[in-house]
Amino acid sequence: MDRGAALSVDRDTLIAAARTAAGQAYAPYSGFHVGAALGFSDGSLVTGSNVENASYGLTLCAETVAVGKAMSEGRRGALEAVAVIGGKAGAVGVGAPVTPCGRCRQVLTELAQLGGTDPLIWCAGEEEVLELRLSALLPHAFGPANLG
Ligand code: THU
Repeated sequence: MDRGAALSVDRDTLIAAARTAAGQAYAPYSGFHVGAALGFSDGSLVTGSNVENASYGLTLCAETVAVGKAMSEGRRGALEAVAVIGGKAGAVGVGAPVTPCGRCRQVLTELAQLGGTDPLIWCAGEEEVLELRLSALLPHAFGPANLG
């Protein structure tokens, strides 16, 4: 990926999509609502929200849901950027930025490596948007490239 190239997705648009997705979170157990938005090089977006389960450990994070939606639509790679936002119901985006959990970092890496990109991850908090490359969140990642 050419890191100097202009992005097809606008940061604030992607964060706004993640915030809207958080509004669909099913989080009756934690009360913590998360939204994620994936931005692709053709300018399209795919969103996800967390989906909890009465068997708590089966909870799906917003980022994982978004990747599952995208890949089940046939998307493979072209992942330019990801926005994540979360918080208690009625207070999404309040407080510190939410960074993707370890499992979600791995799940995002699968989709990203298929297209050879290292997407920007925008973690939106109340006072700052933390911007990191996926490779910084998950250095030396194991992915499909290792099996090719
Ligand atoms: N959660 C996410 O959706 N994404 C993350 O990266 C961190 C955590 C969800 C899982 C659970 O439903 C709630 O936040 C509290 O952990």
